[in-house]
Amino acid sequence: DWTMAEFRAAKVAEIRTQVGSGRVICGLSGGVDSAVAAVLIHEAIGEQLTCVFVDHGLMRTGEAEQVVSLFRNSYNIPLVHVNAEDTFLAGLAGETDPEKKRKFIGGAFIDLFEEEARKVGGADFLAQGTLYPDVIESVSFTGGPSVTIKSHHNVGGLPERMNMQLVEPLRELFKDEVRALGMELGLPQAFVGRHPFPGPGLAIRIPGEVTKERCDILRKADAIYLEEIRAAGLYDTIWQAFAVLLPVRSVGVMGDGRTYDNVLALRAVTSTDGMTAEAFQFPGDFLPRVATRIVNEVKGINRVTYDYTSKPPGTIEWE
Ligand code: XMP
Repeated sequence: DWTMAEFRAAKVAEIRTQVGSGRVICGLSGGVDSAVAAVLIHEAIGEQLTCVFVDHGLMRTGEAEQVVSLFRNSYNIPLVHVNAEDTFLAGLAGETDPEKKRKFIGGAFIDLFEEEARKVGGADFLAQGTLYPDVIESVSFTGGPSVTIKSHHNVGGLPERMNMQLVEPLRELFKDEVRALGMELGLPQAFVGRHPFPGPGLAIRIPGEVTKERCDILRKADAIYLEEIRAAGLYDTIWQAFAVLLPVRSVGVMGDGRTYDNVLALRAVTSTDGMTAEAFQFPGDFLPRVATRIVNEVKGINRVTYDYTSKPPGTIEWE
């Protein structure tokens, strides 16, 4: 059995051998995986690494700032921060098809990333925080014919066109192992322990058309939900918890007036690798409390539901 310290040392050596004196560019998504990959590669080759964070504006409250400060201040790793919210929102306007949304985001992400790569003088290698489950799920769904369930935006498509070799030091790892490696590398526990967040961000948690206004509504509701989960001491026992803003309006009553507003779904699952999942069972008074807070505090939402579907047959994200 390998310890994480041995894995770290072996990977550092492997990365040095693979890269030689070449230049590596790494796309940060804001999540744990790409951050751990970047810190590991930085340990191996230092200044030969450039990190690019294409910020699509589909992050949760405060998320982009946390990544930027972690890299620039705590690790002193040079980071190019591209604020591309307008580009992504413009491209998503009018689009309601889940796969088209994913494909657009993936494509725009690559275009912006390539542009930044050119600006820093290009690179010979492209680093990605691909994990073992990402590799499997993008290829096929076990037990049946090869069907793409969802186009994961951090896997595939990139290398051939960009003419760079891939550096994917986490390719054999599951999520819990990536977290252990992150701790081994000295990343803060609060960062390493964060729930997974999908590359396409809030766009796939807003079925139907994505607008700035809907992103803002979702961000507020999601923040309340997660604040309550943390306050209840449940964050670390849940694999992933998030809110989904549905393209459905319902009638409600507030004070002495009628409301006709958006419906929000809450989701929380337990899982070990994201490939199968069970709905999390909250203690009895938790969900009613969160529902009341969200309806009272978030303008635009007048009804809250909870998603009990396991995976399979559901998926974790709604799109
Ligand atoms: P699903 O919804 O397929 O999600 O059950 C399984 C896990 O993968 C995350 N996910 C993604 N992660 N890029 C990512 O980096 C993506 O495009 C993507 N889509 C889903 C999801 O949040 C869950 O943890």
